[in-house]
Amino acid sequence: MRKTILLAAVCGLFLPLLKVSAQDKIDFGKQIYPFIKSGCVQCHRPEHENPERPGRKIKPKGGYVMTNAESLLAAATEDGVKFIAPGKPDDSRILQVVKLPLEDDHHYPPEGKAPQWTDAEKELFAKWVAEGANFGEWKEDPDPLTLPTWDGKEKEPGTTETAP
Ligand code: HEC
Repeated sequence: MRKTILLAAVCGLFLPLLKVSAQDKIDFGKQIYPFIKSGCVQCHRPEHENPERPGRKIKPKGGYVMTNAESLLAAATEDGVKFIAPGKPDDSRILQVVKLPLEDDHHYPPEGKAPQWTDAEKELFAKWVAEGANFGEWKEDPDPLTLPTWDGKEKEPGTTETAP
């Protein structure tokens, strides 16, 4: 009898914890990739045909592709700074560049070219990197050349863009 009570008490204590941590886990494909796609992919997608000049290719800017997990994890600057350093948001170049002042040459996306990440998005990205940069089921954007349309307006500061 006592054992049963103890077991019930232990379950009562730990089950809710498990539930909370499962809910808190960030889903890369649903919660992070949408603002990489809208903010970065226009310039950082695989090499493709230039629709305005047939026969000519458009290369990813700087050679950096941000449409699949493998390239995102492999990408590093010439100085060896990783785009994503799992567990270390401050050492992750992606987060460094989005946080630089708008007028800095290394700030991305360049002002007016794509929607800026909101503070909530920067925070979410930092949390995802801190948690180990787990891509979960997500391997790649199935349609990396199709971009979301942008009306030129920035998002509300506290919001994050998410996939349905
Ligand atoms: C309008 C085009 C454009 C967009 C949009 C864009 N970039 Fe870039 N990005 C560039 C270009 C051009 C370079 C290469 C500069 C060079 O080779 O010196 C670059 C290089 C980079 C670099 C490496 C250079 C450095 O300073 O560390 C990082 C990191 C980067 N981009 C991240 C991003 C992120 C993150 C986003 C989205 C939030 C983004 N970029 C959106 C054009 C863009």
